[in-house]
Amino acid sequence: MSDLVLVLNGPNLNLLGSREPHIYGHDTLDSIAAALSDQAEALGIEIDLRQSNHEGHLVDWLHEAGGRSALAVILNAGAYTHTSVAIHDAIKAIAVPVIEVHLSNPHAREAFRHTSFISPVAKGVISGFGARSYALALDAAAALRQGTAQ
Ligand code: DQA
Repeated sequence: MSDLVLVLNGPNLNLLGSREPHIYGHDTLDSIAAALSDQAEALGIEIDLRQSNHEGHLVDWLHEAGGRSALAVILNAGAYTHTSVAIHDAIKAIAVPVIEVHLSNPHAREAFRHTSFISPVAKGVISGFGARSYALALDAAAALRQGTAQ
């Protein structure tokens, strides 16, 4: 196990800040990355934050996390959360805990967002706290390292 946490972001999350701010808030992915970097440094964790609008990139990065024996993956798969068997299977194929993250609370939104292909294979799920969802997930990852998370 390393101290590496991959923070993977799926489609449309490159538009955070301008995309439906009443739902997703005003933080940009860059500002989230900067805050996470500071938090990671304080925790002694290395983070690598990436974003792609392409499902296969997320699959490849999950495989990479497995190959590098990452401590954890923090994954906001965006809309692929609700559609992707490929991402579900990739998570099952690696021995790295995946923490599913959402800025919004999908269960409080449209019915099509109530199904997650990620949740059944995730270590845990954090949603509904805006940019803070990521910070909470990084704390959870640090707890995994210390063996203080279940
Ligand atoms: C999201 C929720 C998804 O339903 C949506 O498709 C997104 C963002 C969130 O962070 O709240 O793109 O994952």
